[in-house]
Amino acid sequence: MSILDTFKKIFNKEEEIEMKNILFIVGSLREGSFNHQLAQNAEKVLEGKANVSYLDWKNVPMFSQDLETPVLPEVQAVRDAVAAADAIWIFSPVYNFSIPGPVKNLLDWLSRAVDLSDTTGKSAIDSKVTTVSLLANGGHDQAAEVYRNLLPFIRTNFVDQLTFSKVNDSAWADGKFVADDDVLAQLDKQVAALLAAIK
Ligand SMILES: Cc1cc2nc3c(=O)[nH]c(=O)nc-3n(C[C@H](O)[C@H](O)[C@H](O)COP(=O)(O)O)c2cc1C
Repeated sequence: MSILDTFKKIFNKEEEIEMKNILFIVGSLREGSFNHQLAQNAEKVLEGKANVSYLDWKNVPMFSQDLETPVLPEVQAVRDAVAAADAIWIFSPVYNFSIPGPVKNLLDWLSRAVDLSDTTGKSAIDSKVTTVSLLANGGHDQAAEVYRNLLPFIRTNFVDQLTFSKVNDSAWADGKFVADDDVLAQLDKQVAALLAAIK
């Protein structure tokens, strides 16, 4: 291997090491979710800029304080994934002009102190950089307002550069979400703001 190749190898490795980890939370558990497809568009924009993984949160139970101790494996798993991430990006439908109940449930779990001997103590999501994209046909502003209040309230560092998208008409027939130029431009801006917040 030439000296140049050796340098290239080292340089690329450093770049790899420096890539931040962004955890995607798709706020719809539906197979074929349009929000999942929007997340895939965002993943493309992040290619080569950050590592992306998707949170598996479908088995997180309905929150009850009776279930908090001992910590359930399903809860520990989402806490670990969140703790390992540099940023959390939520892709959310709008349900009844608000955020989906299952997402609120997940965030309620994540908002709880890891050590319950001090309920005001650090949670898994404490101080994490967060942002949100919304894909629905109406109620974006109302749902965004809920996230704008909730995410700082649970002590995350909220990046208020959101993407608002509608479902394209043909998606209702063929199940394929198509991001238009406006949505792609919004995602570009959101990626830039998110990466700036975690650098
Ligand atoms: C309980 C419920 C409430 C909904 N409320 C809204 C709404 O307020 N605004 C809207 O645009 N769509 C609403 N929808 C439709 C969803 O936005 C639509 O099903 C969308 O495809 C969900 O995202 P997904 O494809 O990622 O699952 C609602 C759907 C459900 C199940």
